[in-house]
Amino acid sequence: MAEHSFQAPKGTRDFYPTDLALRRRIEHAWRSASVDFGFDEIEGPTFEHLELYTAKSGEGIVSELFSFRRAGGENDYALRPEFTPTLARMVAAKAGGLPTPVKWFAIPMMYRAERPQRGRLREFGQWNIDLLGLEGAAVDVEVIGVAILALERLGLTARDVQVRLSHRVVIGRVLAALGVAAEKASDAMTLLDRRDKLDAAEFQKRAEALGLSTEAVQRFDAVARAAQPLAQSFDALAKSIGVEVDAFSALEEIRVAAEHAGILEWCTVDVGIVRGLAYYTGTVFEIHEISGAERAIAGGGRYDGLVELFGGPKMPACGFGMGDVVLANVLSDRGLLPKDPATLLPQPDAFVISAGGDADRFVAPLVRRMRMAGLHARTSYKATRNVGKLLSDANKVRARFAIIIGAEIADGRVALKNLASGEQQWIALDDVVTACARIACAS
Ligand code: HAM
Repeated sequence: MAEHSFQAPKGTRDFYPTDLALRRRIEHAWRSASVDFGFDEIEGPTFEHLELYTAKSGEGIVSELFSFRRAGGENDYALRPEFTPTLARMVAAKAGGLPTPVKWFAIPMMYRAERPQRGRLREFGQWNIDLLGLEGAAVDVEVIGVAILALERLGLTARDVQVRLSHRVVIGRVLAALGVAAEKASDAMTLLDRRDKLDAAEFQKRAEALGLSTEAVQRFDAVARAAQPLAQSFDALAKSIGVEVDAFSALEEIRVAAEHAGILEWCTVDVGIVRGLAYYTGTVFEIHEISGAERAIAGGGRYDGLVELFGGPKMPACGFGMGDVVLANVLSDRGLLPKDPATLLPQPDAFVISAGGDADRFVAPLVRRMRMAGLHARTSYKATRNVGKLLSDANKVRARFAIIIGAEIADGRVALKNLASGEQQWIALDDVVTACARIACAS
């Protein structure tokens, strides 16, 4: 009987080969979209000083930290729950010497001590895109555009997902128009952000505590629910929540930029999107599956003060994080993941088979030559020389060719069998590597 039986910690995942192949497919879309938009990849430490997060990440994240102290040590550390503080620290440390704009991406693992549930784990992968050193709606839209390109490459369309956008300045102006005093604006934003987690009575109680009249509470509630396509004019929305239309001017700029960038149809205005993270200063957005049933696929926005807060120069910045967990759920629900994940595993170029006898000694040198030529070559570990059985093994691993070494090796010839078409040709042993390389290149 086993002495110990261990399970992976709650909220973590084991990645068996096909699971990891799926994750790599997502990461490939993230990486290729980043590179095509001119972003360079970076990485940072898995853990940081605890204060890096208590400084500005906001209550939500701080309450979910995995924090620890080295045995006998004095410093407190935390596993990274997000990447933005690390990135801001890295930029602040070198800001003078970095070419601007800074365009960086990262695909790190993150750790949050959340209660595990659908779309929410304690360890997850998160793609980060961040563009620093430039202001303006066109920059915010470029950042959003990178996310959209990756989602498109994974097969999603504007009918599957929407970028739900708001703007902290717009929210501030709307709140002021509703009668929220300047010193209560931050509490009001927190309340807006938590709107979906509270029942109506609790929401009303908290809104009244902000000094809002009953009528203003209703309008405040309407704000939390106000959403419309970005393409639509703000006139009716402004009227319905009782503010001047120019309160929406920051979002109007985003609309124009999104139209120029060709991504307008992907975007919805959702005034209730505030984002829990304390460092955002301007545009804020989340990407959601269209029914709204799943948690956010991504979240981000403009955070113009963070680099300076970490001792760097004043530096505007905008970025987002996209998690692999929700995204994989959405892709799976939409039938956008392969039915047989084994098809995502690397496909061998050739499977070398010996029919026995003298042929055996030619297998290892041929496999080596193939690998030296950059080809993916495999052979059997089995003792059998039953060619039929070995061909079936070659098919199981989806090899494109079987190279069968039989009695003809006496004349220096081997059989090259195309496993998809069944076509077979005789070829000189000396030419087989080149022939396979040519075919692999062509396909
Ligand atoms: P966030 O909204 O906390 O933003 O996270 C972004 C995304 O990471 C979420 O939309 C979700 O897909 C994924 N995510 C977050 N927590 C979990 C979890 N426990 N399990 C699975 N997935 C999760 C940030 O982290 C900001 N630092 C993003 C950013 C980058 N802002 C500017 N630059």
